Amino acid sequence: MKKTIAVLPGDGIGPEVVKAALKVLDQIAEQYQHQFEYRYADIGGIAIDLHQTPLPQRTLDTCRQSDAILLGAVGGPKWDQLPSHMRPEKGLLQLRKSLQLFANLRPVTCYESLLEASPLKPERIKGVDFVIVRELTGGIYFGEPRERRYDNDEELAIDTLTYTRKEIERIVRKGFELAQVRRKKVTSVDKANVLESSRLWREVVDEVAKEYPEVSYEHMLVDNAAMQLIRQPTYFDVMVTENMFGDILSDEASMLTGSLGMLPSASLSAIGPSLYEPIHGSAPDIAGENKANPLATISSLAMMLKYEFGLEEEAEALDEAIESVLKKGIRTADLASAGVEYHSTEAVTNEVIEQLSSIRV
Ligand code: NAD
Ligand code: IPM
Ligand code: MN
Repeated sequence: MKKTIAVLPGDGIGPEVVKAALKVLDQIAEQYQHQFEYRYADIGGIAIDLHQTPLPQRTLDTCRQSDAILLGAVGGPKWDQLPSHMRPEKGLLQLRKSLQLFANLRPVTCYESLLEASPLKPERIKGVDFVIVRELTGGIYFGEPRERRYDNDEELAIDTLTYTRKEIERIVRKGFELAQVRRKKVTSVDKANVLESSRLWREVVDEVAKEYPEVSYEHMLVDNAAMQLIRQPTYFDVMVTENMFGDILSDEASMLTGSLGMLPSASLSAIGPSLYEPIHGSAPDIAGENKANPLATISSLAMMLKYEFGLEEEAEALDEAIESVLKKGIRTADLASAGVEYHSTEAVTNEVIEQLSSIRV
């Protein structure tokens, strides 16, 4: 198979984890006789530095002309004081909007060998396997008006949370479709006791649910959901929710697996190529130290192989290789217990490659 991949390393640990993931993908290409062409492009802080904009037109064009997109992370203290339209994060948000990457799938699975790495008790997280389906191109991230102004002498800031019925419908449908091929249970998370947008959300969920009679579903308020994730995480199968709730709940959920550095994601497009990225950020506190956990990005590649290219065997081999590495006790600092030896980004990556190459094709 021959595919082109737009590669957007971004900032901080972004370039480190992307480099690691592509080294692994090179191994997949060799082992399974595929050709992956990488087309590098700038986004975020690096793009601001080089092109005075967080999302250059060339980057957008490169993404549109590729079969899939791999992204590291954007942002960092260097760009934190810039006006909002010039922030690195704006580049990512514009990319999501431009390519209509409306469905962000964030699977949360606990590896057996990492049960001890989570701050939660092992018996509580054993068997955790759910997916957060996060709406990614609407809600308070994009609503207008969005401004700062003075009302008489009072300084104020406005953000707007808007959802159209159509936007809710398409993401909820994704949730139900996914549940159909999983354990057939949807938990729709909202704040319908306060927000009008959540009340519309609930109505739409009730309607869409009728089309999927074999899937059971429920509504859950987001504050309760945040608590239930810790109390009984094995309860969940598919959690579908709006943009900001999904952002927050997925960082929380990542700790069930032991580290934010473990969670991959796929942002599926309504119109063109989809984007694959770890859920974590640019981690400025460890950038440049060869310390970042590359597994979230490597797992994101596994999602790309499976969802975008239909390469199930390759994706499975990758998951298996990751599991073997963890089983051997090889892990980056974020997953290691205090006082226990840990491995560098590169060392973990090389181990994944080593494990991959021992899988017979
Ligand atoms: P972060 O996710 O970058 O880091 C939070 C904590 O988790 C840090 O202590 C970090 O060291 C650790 N961490 C994150 N990824 C890790 C990995 N792979 N391996 C080991 N440890 C890891 O969140 P933050 O510190 O709140 O944000 C830093 C910057 O990243 C901000 O500019 C933010 O806007 C940006 N950000 C970008 C994305 C993205 O590009 N998708 C996502 C989240 C945050
Ligand atoms: C994420 C990040 C982004 C988000 C930021 C960087 C805009 O936190 O991908 O989870 O909030 O969506
Ligand atoms: Mn986030």
